[in-house]
Amino acid sequence: MQSSSFTMALLRWFAQHGRELPWRGIGDPYGIWVSEIILQQTRIEQGRDYWLRFMERFPTVEALAAASEDEVLRLWQGLGYYSRARNMHAAARQIVEQGGFPRTIQGLRALKGVGDYTAAAVGSMAFGLPAAAVDGNVYRVLSRHYGIDVPINTVKGKRTFDALAHELLPVGEASAFNQAMMDFGATWCTPKSPRCIDCPVAETCEARRTGRINELPVKEKKLKVRERHMTYIYIRHEGYTALRRRPAGDIWQGLWEPLLVENAPMPDLGCQLTLLATGVKHVLTHRVLLADFYLAEPMTRPHLPDGYIWIKEQDLGIYAQPRLIERLLEYLP
Ligand code: ADE
Repeated sequence: MQSSSFTMALLRWFAQHGRELPWRGIGDPYGIWVSEIILQQTRIEQGRDYWLRFMERFPTVEALAAASEDEVLRLWQGLGYYSRARNMHAAARQIVEQGGFPRTIQGLRALKGVGDYTAAAVGSMAFGLPAAAVDGNVYRVLSRHYGIDVPINTVKGKRTFDALAHELLPVGEASAFNQAMMDFGATWCTPKSPRCIDCPVAETCEARRTGRINELPVKEKKLKVRERHMTYIYIRHEGYTALRRRPAGDIWQGLWEPLLVENAPMPDLGCQLTLLATGVKHVLTHRVLLADFYLAEPMTRPHLPDGYIWIKEQDLGIYAQPRLIERLLEYLP
């Protein structure tokens, strides 16, 4: 099938304006996969540094598979959404067990932490598979250009945009097309103030013709995300502090945190507490966390609930912590 003029214009645009990124053109499925996992929830500027560090420490999928989960989490520290790192580590072991990277969309999709988008992105860029990687950028570009107002966060919306993206996919050039859509959405057809003046497909843009650029894409309103209130007490006693490891089945599984009080009275630690910060907001996908931070400096070691251990404060760096706890540490005197 012949490519549409939209597709051709986008590929031309990409050849001229595509971003230079360290994982582009490397052809290594492992490096490409790592970049896609990092970029699932991280901006490209921050993701680039993490990718470089990650690849330096774990240059091959075998190296990642051989690492401990703790080390992987430590390298991931600060990126958030730690299930990505845990899944990636588990998937690395899957890949090594299988004797190499799967070379089909189905095979990629079966890896832990790999959904439709990531399977298509890695499959097209590493193996030239004809799959469209459809993410928020693609929804925005297509909904505007084709004037489609089906809400993007509905099953019907997902099907509609997925089908259209696949129709537009040029034969043998899925990799360039997917990356063109990503870059075009991220740098030209942006959510606010898109560059319509020098847009390569402005002539045929339905949203521009009908003055609906700011109305598209359409999103159905969802219920407000729930808030969760947490109080953390950092205990300091003769150079030691207390941490516990978050249990399995938890957003922060495997990461370490100071004494947590949640929906319970404040414990008696045998001293006054110093308030470090209150109402610290930390936004996750399905939750907003609101945290209060305290410092306790008791004269003797208080008794702590099960699970907490005493560690030297100078060793804090060895224990991977959620970003929220890093923020607490920044408040410590
Ligand atoms: N966002 C997610 N994956 C990307 C990629 N490969 N290039 C640019 N932006 C991206």
